[in-house]
Amino acid sequence: MTELARLVQEAEQAFSGAADSASLENAKARFLGKGGALTEQLKALGQADPETKKTLGAAINAAKNQIEALLAQRRQAIADAELNERLSSEAIDVSLDGRGRGVGAIHPVIRTWRRVEEIFHSIGFDVADGPEIETDWMNFTALNNPENHPARSMQDTFYLEKKDETGLPLLLRTHTSPMQVRYARTHTPPIKVIAPGRTYRVDSDATHSPMFHQVEGLWIAEDISFADLKGVFVNFLHTFFETDQLQVRFRPSFFPFTEPSAEIDMRFESGPLRGRWLEIAGSGQVHPMVVKNFGLDPERYIGFAFGTGIERLTMLRYGIGDLRLFYENDLRFLRQFV
Ligand code: PHE
Repeated sequence: MTELARLVQEAEQAFSGAADSASLENAKARFLGKGGALTEQLKALGQADPETKKTLGAAINAAKNQIEALLAQRRQAIADAELNERLSSEAIDVSLDGRGRGVGAIHPVIRTWRRVEEIFHSIGFDVADGPEIETDWMNFTALNNPENHPARSMQDTFYLEKKDETGLPLLLRTHTSPMQVRYARTHTPPIKVIAPGRTYRVDSDATHSPMFHQVEGLWIAEDISFADLKGVFVNFLHTFFETDQLQVRFRPSFFPFTEPSAEIDMRFESGPLRGRWLEIAGSGQVHPMVVKNFGLDPERYIGFAFGTGIERLTMLRYGIGDLRLFYENDLRFLRQFV
């Protein structure tokens, strides 16, 4: 083997032994650098005779080209290896779950609230709003519940220390009716409104919570009768529960603010609750005293009112057995309504 051939072989070994680009550049210097083996050979060529210069020169150049090609090959291999290593160490697993926030949803009670508003809105009812902290007059007296009347104990509530201008303590409203008083006193008939909202009573068990939601309806004009109440409410139940397979009955009852009064019961003719009478609302023809307290002439204006529980409607619609589930914020329960 000629010396040049040996040099090429040595370079090949040195290059393939270089594990990274830094050691490859060191190896390159040993052969092609200023003091490298090939450079030394080319220098020595200066003293040679013209004939030797020609043949040896060509051989040295050929060896140099070979070594340069080997070097380029190895450089590429090392660059490829380094790139692959980086790709695998910086790899992103695109199949992992993202860190995005969970999707929110409307609470089932609020969902019912909105649904009730939509249904009544579609038949021309306005939606009233009003304070949860009420005066004694708005919550009781205006609704024909005189002070000290035993009917007040049907709606025991929470009182505030703060008093209104008549000296009576403010209270958390026990029903949504005071919103209807406020609405009726500021609007002229025909009055056709629903009043949905939070209400409070001293009550707590599987079917009662100290805070709950009601929706009441009020329709007052010169010719609104019990027949209209029946039509509106039965139609509401059919729409709300999305079925005509539903019977409704009006059972005589007592409320201070209506006369006559009726409890409304319903019975599904199909589904899991089939065949049982379920109490769903209170209702009646608005008492003349209440019409008077609305600021209207009871000889001229007449109409009906009804009130129902939003939790109750929600429980019956989705088949929920325990009211407390609505307030525990257990995601396993709430997720079912997403
Ligand atoms: N406000 C009554 C209650 O909470 C319900 C009701 C409303 C009854 C309107 C009759 C008429 O008990």
